[in-house]
This record gives sequence, C-alpha cells and structure tokens, in this order.
Amino acid sequence: MQDYKNPNLVLETAQVEPGSITWRSPSNLAIIKYWGKHGRQLPKNPSLSLTLSSSFTDTLLEYRPKESGNRDISLEFTFHGEPNEPFRDKVLKYLENVTDMFPFLRQLDLTVRTGNSFPHSAGIASSASAMSALALCLCSLEHELFGTLDDDADFDRKASFTARLGSGSACRSIFPVAALWGQIGEAAGSSDYWAIPMADHVHAVFKDFHDDILIASAEAKSVSSRAGHGLMDGHPFADARFADAKRKMHFLLEAMRKGDLETFGSIAESEALTLHALMMSSTPSFTLLKPNTLEMMERLRRYREETGHPVFFSLDAGPNLHVLYPGDIVHEVRPFIEEELAPLCEDGKYLQDWAGEGPVQV
Ligand code: PMV
Repeated sequence: MQDYKNPNLVLETAQVEPGSITWRSPSNLAIIKYWGKHGRQLPKNPSLSLTLSSSFTDTLLEYRPKESGNRDISLEFTFHGEPNEPFRDKVLKYLENVTDMFPFLRQLDLTVRTGNSFPHSAGIASSASAMSALALCLCSLEHELFGTLDDDADFDRKASFTARLGSGSACRSIFPVAALWGQIGEAAGSSDYWAIPMADHVHAVFKDFHDDILIASAEAKSVSSRAGHGLMDGHPFADARFADAKRKMHFLLEAMRKGDLETFGSIAESEALTLHALMMSSTPSFTLLKPNTLEMMERLRRYREETGHPVFFSLDAGPNLHVLYPGDIVHEVRPFIEEELAPLCEDGKYLQDWAGEGPVQV
C-alpha cells in the first residue's frame, strides 16, 4: 500500500527562496454518505459526492526557511484576516500529523491565511473545502521545492490522500463534478485511501446540476463529525448500514452513468434520511432535523408530484436541506424555492450552488 511516507523530502534550506501558494477548493455533497470509520481515517463504506462550486475555501500558504534549528512546526494562522486559535490548533495538529509525508514542513516558517466563500454562521460544514485546499497547498509546495508530482494524476491522488487525513470527505473535493471514495470491485482504481474522479463516468446531466442549500438553521452542528463517525462503532444497525451503502453504490453508479434521475434521486433521499436515522438511533442519540426541514421536504415532494420535475433533496449532518435538480429546469424550480422554501429558512437564507470544476490554483 502506497502510504506516501517519504523521509527524503528534506531541504537544503539555504537554497530555498520564500514564496507562497494559493488554492481555492470547493465543498462537496455526498449522495452516498461516509458515516463510520476505522484506522487512520479509513471509511467503513464507499461514498460518492458531487463537487460543489460556489461554496469554497481559499487558502494561501506562505513559506520561508526557518532561521532557528527548532524542529517544531512554525505556524502563523489567520481566518478571514483574524487570528483564530481553535482553527490554528486544528491546522497545527494536522500539519504535525502529515510530517511523515512532508518532513520539510519542519524546516520552514509557515503562514496559512484562509477564508470561506460562505458565511461561517450558515451551518455549512467547511472541513471538506478547508482540508482539501490545505492539502493541495502542501502538494504544490512539495512540487515547487522538489520537482516531484509532475504528473497531474499523481498530484491529485496524493492531494486526495493528504486531504483525507484532515477530513475524510475532503478527499472527494479534489476532483471536478463527482468523486468516489472507497474500494469497490466495479470501479477500477477505487481505494479506501483516496478518492477517484468520476466526471468521465457520469451522464452530461450531472455536469449542469444544481444543489441549492436551504438554511433551516444557521446554528453550529450539535454533533461533530468525529463524534458522529464514532456513533457507528457498536451501532445496532452498523453492519446492515455498511452493506446497504455498498448495495446502493452499485445502483447509483449505473443511474449516474445513464442519467437516470429517478433512481439517482431516490438513492439521494434514502441516504439523507438513513444518515439521520442512524444518528437518531445511536447512543447517545442526536436529532438534527428541525420542524422546518421536515416541512421543506414535504413541500418539495408535493412539488415533484404535482409538476413531475426531477427535484430531490439531500441532507448533511445538520438541518439544512440540499435541493438537487438539473440545470434545464432552473427557471421553474427557482421560483418554487423562493416562494415555498426560502420563507421557511432562517432569515430567508439559502445558498445557490451547483456541480463544479473542482479546485483551482490561483
Ligand atoms: O469528513 P467528515 O469526517 O467531516 O465526515 C463527513 C460526513 C458526512 O458529511 C455526513 C457525509 C459525507 O460523506 O460527506
């Protein structure tokens, strides 16, 4: 197994010019959810996501050779231009955790300046975009300093592996349109260690696909994803859940290849509700859905029934409803969202997002 440990990535520090690298990396929405992990952030079941576009993190990594011989990671950190100790601690811990892959990090003074396109208080998890942006910066830095990772596929694979160690779902944000994480027989090259790109294996309808995020509540999540994954250890339905995710993956891959929106949508909705059912039936138990989330689901189902439009919902580990639909009906669906769903949101707030092109170096 490729683990990317590389003790040779050590600098002749005197030769290093100070520099900086910036990546913009998007969030993603899992259609089949990753929920339950083992080992060093490895998934208990395969997951597949749409890569988003307008919800992203910008991360600037500045580096210069250390003047002292101190081997600790030296990190300055800002979030939206302000120091942020809890986030700095998280990033510092992460960098320490990946020094076996990037030992040169100990030889540099580092500054990380980061910020999200979406409001911090929107109840939108930012770990996928944040950790993928940072992982991409680290791989670009390795490329810059050592001339490695020249091949794009090698670069993306290492970036996905590195992102996974920060946040499992982040490994899927590296690729445009859609990504699959987790080893399954029917997808060549699939792995528990990194995600693989799926854009070439999905129907054109998914390349122009919307995910509007209806903010039922902007409160921070009451269960962290680390604790959430832990709830699956010893969960009474764990084995059935992992088997069900694998079974659904087979049907989802086929539906996405053919552009079969009915099957895609029914799997998306079933997965969203399964995720919440698992949280509600775990010990301790969490109910993250709000009355308005349920009301929006009802209205969406009614709208679908009445119009026949392929509009579906998904959920993350929170109360906000993701409304999924193809681009060719945006002019029909938006007025429905504005008139029927947005009034149920906190301050009428919703974010417009869509399947995107993946991260860009800026
Ligand atoms: O990557 P984590 O550890 O934040 O877990 C993500 C879990 C879900 O968002 C609920 C599902 C998923 O696959 O993204």
